[in-house]
Amino acid sequence: MSARLWPWLLGGCAVTAEVREDDSDTPGSDTVEAQAPRPALVEPAPAVDLDPTPEVLEVTLRAAPARLEVGGLAVDGFAYEGQVPGPTLRARVGDVLVAHLDNALDAPTTIHWHGAGAPVEMDGVPWQRDPTPPGGGFTYRFPLEQPGTFWYHPHFDTEGQVDRGLYGLLVVDGPPQVVADRDVVLVFDAWGEAGRRADEHGLEGTGLVWTVNGLRDPVLDVARGETLRLRLLNASNTGYLALAADGLSVIAGDQGVRGPPAHPDTLVLAPGDRAEALLGVTGDLDLLREPFSLHGGAAWGAPERLLSFRASGEGMPAPAPSGVRVPPSTDPGRTDVVYTFQGDSRTGGWRINGEAFPDVTIAEVDLGDRVVVEVRNLSSTRHPFHLHGHAFEVLSVDGVPPVSSTTEDTLDVGIHQVVRLAFTATRPGDWMVHCHVLPHADGGMMTVLRVRSPP
Ligand code: C2O
Ligand code: CU
Repeated sequence: MSARLWPWLLGGCAVTAEVREDDSDTPGSDTVEAQAPRPALVEPAPAVDLDPTPEVLEVTLRAAPARLEVGGLAVDGFAYEGQVPGPTLRARVGDVLVAHLDNALDAPTTIHWHGAGAPVEMDGVPWQRDPTPPGGGFTYRFPLEQPGTFWYHPHFDTEGQVDRGLYGLLVVDGPPQVVADRDVVLVFDAWGEAGRRADEHGLEGTGLVWTVNGLRDPVLDVARGETLRLRLLNASNTGYLALAADGLSVIAGDQGVRGPPAHPDTLVLAPGDRAEALLGVTGDLDLLREPFSLHGGAAWGAPERLLSFRASGEGMPAPAPSGVRVPPSTDPGRTDVVYTFQGDSRTGGWRINGEAFPDVTIAEVDLGDRVVVEVRNLSSTRHPFHLHGHAFEVLSVDGVPPVSSTTEDTLDVGIHQVVRLAFTATRPGDWMVHCHVLPHADGGMMTVLRVRSPP
């Protein structure tokens, strides 16, 4: 059975593509429509901990080329430990992560620990240390100091290597306690045409086939009355996800649980974004992807089912926690660093403050400073702003502070939006700042923020 892809273009704007299954090799298919059974959802296998000490998580991550079967497509991809998504790393706040990268690719690579607060020499950006050459190895070692749902991926040929399947989740548990019956990892990605590179480029957010943990339209069996804690990651290079499911309580963004849960109609995850949500299962339920355009305006197409929860048995879930509102910090009313995002999808030239990486002016702040950043999106498309090394508090979006204090490392900035952020510079070094739509970053939308240590 092969899949053919039909991207439709409408008014110059790519809309939801459709996959048609060619069932001509199924006996009797010309009379009865063959229905492929839906796969059972499988979570990415956890990493094997090589160190018996409870406070140390020691893992091997071998990056190698892999022939992937994703959502019915055959893809020449890459994998960590032979799996896409890569192994899930689970640790507790205060643990030390030791990760041995083994590079079996035919290109250099690195690992970046997105959101986890690694020191700069462990951050996986190529200017801190040379990337690991083919056949080489490198050991990353750093303490996990903050709870959250983080992820890891290369930061060398980021656009190409992440697109082909090099990514995995890093879950760091810590206070506050969340009561749930099951923790479920859901990693989303969008994939391209069969037999070709898993290339989303040029489709600007309407990936062809969306998968959940590498599976297309899977089913998860759950007991009625169970409460699931969903760990969501959008690992796609360009595709925005607007997720909808009845009864979803969003309890956290990138950086762990804080404040009361939110109940948005759709949970928008930009590329690189994570969230945690509680789902009390009262019956069968579908997780849908609503039409969404990163260029703004109307989005066409019907909602697409990404995953179904199939309930059995009897039971009633416990009510979702109400949480306590944490007032956001007051905006100090000054700005230390301004980033304007500009660019054009016709030229592929993307700029921060008019500059394209690596020809950029390095903004400098001092260790210990409280830094206020203003991001202005002057372009006609959305951009997920990502700062390395420091999580930041959102002071306001278009002048409006969040309802409860919000800490993120990746924040979607809407068209012509202005967001104000604050963080305390606690880690010295040269930190990358970029858009997490990876072709935008590769097209120049990337700069450097220097945290100076005292002489
Ligand atoms: Cu997930 Cu610099 O990136
Ligand atoms: Cu961008």
